[in-house]
Amino acid sequence: MPHAKPRLIVIDTDPGIDDAIGILLALASPEFTIAGMTTVAGNIGIETTTRNAGRLLAFAGREDIPVFAGAATPLSRPGPEPLNLHGKDGIGGADLPDPTKQPENQPAVAWLTELLLNESAGTVDVLALGPLTNIARLILEKPEAANRIGRIIAMGGVVHEAGNVGPRSEFNLWADPEAAAVVVSSGLPLVLVPLDVTRQVRATRDFAEALSATGMPLAAMVADLLESYFETTTHRESRPLHDPCVMLFALAPELFRLEDLRLTVSTGSTEEAGALTIGEKGTLVQVAMSVDGSAVLDLLAAKLTAI
Ligand code: RIB
Ligand code: CA
Repeated sequence: MPHAKPRLIVIDTDPGIDDAIGILLALASPEFTIAGMTTVAGNIGIETTTRNAGRLLAFAGREDIPVFAGAATPLSRPGPEPLNLHGKDGIGGADLPDPTKQPENQPAVAWLTELLLNESAGTVDVLALGPLTNIARLILEKPEAANRIGRIIAMGGVVHEAGNVGPRSEFNLWADPEAAAVVVSSGLPLVLVPLDVTRQVRATRDFAEALSATGMPLAAMVADLLESYFETTTHRESRPLHDPCVMLFALAPELFRLEDLRLTVSTGSTEEAGALTIGEKGTLVQVAMSVDGSAVLDLLAAKLTAI
């Protein structure tokens, strides 16, 4: 069976330990051609998320992939305080090299516009791992380009479970709820990967040790990232792999169950901001609601140990 042509993707990210694992998974997957990475403030400030994107590419020897700095603040409200979860360097102290290439001068939204207008419509997917500010600005400022996106696969939101910021709010949508509302209501092809499903994909210390034991560079680095993920959250037997679920869905959608839900995003008070509500007034979105957790972990390990 001839291999399908790799899918052209953009990774929009706020690395971030779990972002980093997703990025390393994408770099290990020949199913993707990564056109570039766009960064956003979220887990930590824009300078650090952009630096971390460069560090990951330097580690993987993939300086051919350009990095474009994006939004330093949300569309219309103050940005979140850095999350301690990811450490002072935003990447849990992982032993990554310094970037060997500076980010491009072109701003993220300008580059995304150029890419989407140059590539055939529908051939570029956006894998969004952080607050949706860059994607929202593209939709608002350059709709003729945004409408050419093949599919947006975004980690964000929570439907039936408790949030990880407020009772019903998840960090990526809470950090910039106005941006999330723009993306959800845009009607663009969107697959949302919420906490309801990412909490079903849990890395244990045994999983990390097995990766480390392979001695394969990407696998060993993910093991280091997981170790710091454990260190920053005491007494946890396992850690949810939120952002890697975006890449895992793109690689093996058959391992996930999708529901079509009509969603609206709350842009209300601090605690409620970013909350998702299902209702007839909402916009139809495909939402991943369950996953074969062990199968996707096996896929993650297989990809990380293949190179
Ligand atoms: O709620 C989980 C999300 O918030 C992940 O993208 C994580 O990196 C943080 O940004
Ligand atoms: Ca993230």
